[in-house]
Amino acid sequence: MNNRISIEIRKKEEKDTQDIIKLLELLPQYFSKPTLEAVRNNISRHDGYVATVNDKFVGFISFLVGRSNYHNGKISWMAVHPEFQNRGIGKKLLKVVENYLKSKNIEVIEVNTLAENSDYPQFHRTRQFYKKHGFIEVSRYKDSLDDSVEILVLQKKI
Ligand SMILES: CC(C)(COP(=O)(O)OP(=O)(O)OC[C@H]1O[C@@H](n2cnc3c(N)ncnc32)[C@H](O)[C@@H]1OP(=O)(O)O)[C@@H](O)C(=O)NCCC(=O)NCCS
Repeated sequence: MNNRISIEIRKKEEKDTQDIIKLLELLPQYFSKPTLEAVRNNISRHDGYVATVNDKFVGFISFLVGRSNYHNGKISWMAVHPEFQNRGIGKKLLKVVENYLKSKNIEVIEVNTLAENSDYPQFHRTRQFYKKHGFIEVSRYKDSLDDSVEILVLQKKI
């Protein structure tokens, strides 16, 4: 594939939910069935942006902001189509959320991901991605449904 692609970023709309679910279904090693269900039920209430290449949906980021006295921005889900990863789309999606949060005077962005001691080595890349973009670990906790899974809380001052 040609390395020079033109990536467009726009706000997420209701009509994007189907494409988002289809994309997450392509990444079952990252998004379990219960997570897919949570996305289906909740994503329309989350803010977000989508990335397109030639009008084709190739990725998204969703986030929550200013809920119940919680003033950080929090990334809920994010994914880029496997054929379009490593081309800077994730970086662009993150940047546009950071700019939006800054414009709302929100100074911290947060994300939860799986810890290195969990049974999911594929999340190494995910942690690398966030760490490369300045996120640092602030805490970790055991998943309430499965205590073999440890969740990392990462934050970045924006
Ligand atoms: C994590 C994820 C969203 C990152 O998206 P992405 O579009 O692949 O990310 P980017 O391309 O911006 O950055 C990834 C790497 O590509 C490199 N890169 C960026 N632009 C590039 C370009 N034009 N050409 C080649 N490589 C490039 C970056 O340097 C970065 O390198 P790194 O591996 O050293 O960090 C994506 O890999 C993904 O969907 N993963 C599976 C699901 C997941 O983990 N979601 C997050 C948890 S909910």
